[in-house]
Amino acid sequence: MQRSSRRKFLASLLGTLGAAAVGIATYPVFKYLAPSRSDERGGKVTIPRAQVGVGQARFFQFQGHPAVVLQRGPGVFAAFSAICTHLGCIVKWVPEKGEFLCPCHAGRFSSDGKVLGGPPPKPLPSIPVAISGENLLIG
Ligand code: FES
Repeated sequence: MQRSSRRKFLASLLGTLGAAAVGIATYPVFKYLAPSRSDERGGKVTIPRAQVGVGQARFFQFQGHPAVVLQRGPGVFAAFSAICTHLGCIVKWVPEKGEFLCPCHAGRFSSDGKVLGGPPPKPLPSIPVAISGENLLIG
């Protein structure tokens, strides 16, 4: 009798540990897929201007999707969706070339989001940027 209850206890312990392991392993996937909370400014994102140097880009999340803001020239800012218009990979900024590169199929976009080469069918969608004091209001 005691052997049977020990088996039941071990089986339930293993079941509990297994369920916990599955939960721990899948939590990051659910966290990634879940829509992120919108921010306090009605969907706008605030980024300090000092964080975006001339010729530099800063990636951020906009309405739950990857986006990028860059300073194309002194005081000239532009923001775009960072999702490639071909098959949805995330573009990278290549400061040496002053263009975006999609690592999946070598799609290239200019600093104003236009297609320079590769398979992307459309430009990167732009996102409005406004300067507010020392901050950029994006969205
Ligand atoms: S997904 Fe970007 S070029 Fe194909």
